[in-house]
Amino acid sequence: MAAYDSPLYIYSRAEIEANWLEFDQAFGDHPHLICYAVKANSNIAVLNVLAKMGSGFDIVSIGELQRVIAAGGNPTKCVFSGVAKTSSEIQQALEIGIYCFNVESAGELNRIESVASAMSVQAPISIRVNPDVDAKTHPYISTGLKENKFGVDVEVSKALYHKAQQSDSLNVCGMDCHIGSQITEVSPFIDALDKVLALISELSAEGVDIKHLDLGGGIGIAYDDEQTIDIASYIQEALAKAGDLKILLEPGRAIVGNAGIFVTQVEYLKQSDKKSFAIIDGAMNDLLRPALYSAYHKAVVVEQNPNGVTDAWDLVGPVCETGDFLAKNRTLTLAQGDYVALMSAGAYGFSMSSNYNTRPRVAEVMVSGETHTLVRKRESIESLFENEYTLND
Ligand code: LLP
Repeated sequence: MAAYDSPLYIYSRAEIEANWLEFDQAFGDHPHLICYAVKANSNIAVLNVLAKMGSGFDIVSIGELQRVIAAGGNPTKCVFSGVAKTSSEIQQALEIGIYCFNVESAGELNRIESVASAMSVQAPISIRVNPDVDAKTHPYISTGLKENKFGVDVEVSKALYHKAQQSDSLNVCGMDCHIGSQITEVSPFIDALDKVLALISELSAEGVDIKHLDLGGGIGIAYDDEQTIDIASYIQEALAKAGDLKILLEPGRAIVGNAGIFVTQVEYLKQSDKKSFAIIDGAMNDLLRPALYSAYHKAVVVEQNPNGVTDAWDLVGPVCETGDFLAKNRTLTLAQGDYVALMSAGAYGFSMSSNYNTRPRVAEVMVSGETHTLVRKRESIESLFENEYTLND
């Protein structure tokens, strides 16, 4: 810790690799592509570790595609998701050459067609179908219900496939669905799978040939000791239903979530008759999940101090918001200066961090075997306002 200062994200290369392999190996010889969802943790060292394993990537912006390329990833193994792709993003993705666009609306399909036509190329497309299943997860990260902004419903998708099939500028290659994130039961995935497989056979009978099925990401992890999905049996069940279809998955959290921790230091202990606060140097701008989703991250004291005070602590940060907490009501023995690790912080931790309260984004370190390497340096204060200007008068 002394070498890198606090607060800090630390990732384990071995854990990232093991998690990715668990997906990959479950497929055996079945044609498949694991497209790691870059948004979960987009540090280029993380992407590089996965690129070296042969991973594909799920991107949602041209910025993410550029990160993948900078990290040595293969753009032809990238699927491009997201509801608001701009013409310029579509054009750049076509120039670079990606695996497939996951199309989220009729308007987007039209736009992709016209950009591809102007470039005299064919754009590979999948339609993201919204199977209208309840993923039984936090409403902010549930995406597969009709009321969500993502994908198109089954009937609309049929019309889009027929349209795409007739276009010289579009190449129908797959079908896509992603129903939400942090899903801890397999049944919503299987319900969605059944619905999209039925749609694929219906389309096939009508002459639309779908070559791959992208089942999205969303596999939940254990943040505490909760039960979650057995990845190998989920994949086996999917393969048993999917016949010869090539299967794509877009896991993010399941690969990096439990491969990362966020380490923060206790600045002050502040006890009153009502509440006991451990004021730490990490805050909601560094790890937003507790404030945004009331998410639970286990808190572990890195090295127990014999002079620590045992209490039920709220771990709160320096940001001026009551919502600025990383953990609530945790029985811990703490002393000023102690380091506390917030566990399972590898996914949607750093990647959702901000500079709120003019706080530099923290450093990131990757542990690989016996070595540890700085993979992102802590931002300097000056860099936070270097793109700002004062008025001239
Ligand atoms: N594919 C698509 C189209 C997605 O929208 C997402 C996540 C994924 C794959 C990866 O999902 P995963 O396997 O990581 O669950 N910030 C929230 C999670 C937002 C997820 C957004 N989409 C959180 O911290 O819980």
